[in-house]
Amino acid sequence: MESDAPVLASEPLTSIIEHIRSRLLEGAGVVRLRVLDPDRGAGRYAGEPVVVGERAHRHRPLRVWVDLADRMGLRLSTPRPDGEGLMRLELRPLDPTARWEPGDAVPVTEKYGAGSGYQRIDKAEDPGLVLDLADALERVGLGPGARVLDLGVNTGEELQLLGTLWPELARSGCFVGVDHSASAIEVARSRFSDSTRHHFVCAELAALPELPLGEPFDLVIALGTLHSPGVDDRAVLRHVVQQRLRSNGSVILGVPNCRYVDGEQLHGARMKNFRQPELSLLVKGVAFWRRYLQQHRRKVYVTGKHTVLVTGVPSGRAGAVDVAAPE
Ligand SMILES: C[S@@+](CC[C@H](N)C(=O)[O-])C[C@H]1O[C@@H](n2cnc3c(N)ncnc32)[C@H](O)[C@@H]1O
Repeated sequence: MESDAPVLASEPLTSIIEHIRSRLLEGAGVVRLRVLDPDRGAGRYAGEPVVVGERAHRHRPLRVWVDLADRMGLRLSTPRPDGEGLMRLELRPLDPTARWEPGDAVPVTEKYGAGSGYQRIDKAEDPGLVLDLADALERVGLGPGARVLDLGVNTGEELQLLGTLWPELARSGCFVGVDHSASAIEVARSRFSDSTRHHFVCAELAALPELPLGEPFDLVIALGTLHSPGVDDRAVLRHVVQQRLRSNGSVILGVPNCRYVDGEQLHGARMKNFRQPELSLLVKGVAFWRRYLQQHRRKVYVTGKHTVLVTGVPSGRAGAVDVAAPE
């Protein structure tokens, strides 16, 4: 059993990565390791020494193993205590074909539809997104009766999250949502059935300038949508800022920086044929949005992990909260 789960006590992380890679290349369905229980070194940084009995170990917080599994496309089982201050890790390769994305038979407008695998993903279960959206909403600081436009609203799940994080929105806000998925829009309509306040439109974003969406908005939100194939994010942003936003209105734009594979949310935007995340397209898009919003008198915040959020609020507006934690 020892050889099946070697004790890796003082080896550097590079050797551990090498060991895992070579086991996987040999075709191992599971890689087992015995490492120092992270609780033995709580308060130390990764790599700092901890002596247990006769043996000197390198401490590694649990987060190191979680990150390693994430970056190597592996599933980390719940670590179990394994005697002598050790913990047994089991890492299994994810099935790269276990994706939620439908095949080519599904029309492009229904890729994210109500019956699609995308509905398995609950964004409200991503701690980073929940915390970042909460901060973004504090910065925006919406008052009673605020009008919110959601581009790529899908089934309206994120509007429900906004209402939970900013209860005044759930009480008195007006939601307008646009999406080209007819099935998703139908669900959004049933979720927000008060048609005196809420309005959902099935349409292409390219048709946005022609859509009768009513009075300008206090907040325009687009999460995971502007980077979609066929969407001209710059044209949409210009139209939103110049035609759809109140002069003191705000925007929250989100771009995915993750992939969903075999039940796991893997950090980092991927490009075809790249083994590790490649962020140049994401950075280019975010840089444009940030600069454009700044040129249109918005103070801009860029936050987030699995979803990078670009929040633009009117610069100098009284009432906007600068959410800052002391360093
Ligand atoms: C990745 S999903 C994001 C959905 C939701 N905002 C979220 O964050 O979970 C992208 C959404 O944008 C919609 N969408 C993509 N391209 C579109 C287009 N050209 N016109 C209208 N809607 C589009 C899709 O149907 C889908 O609901």
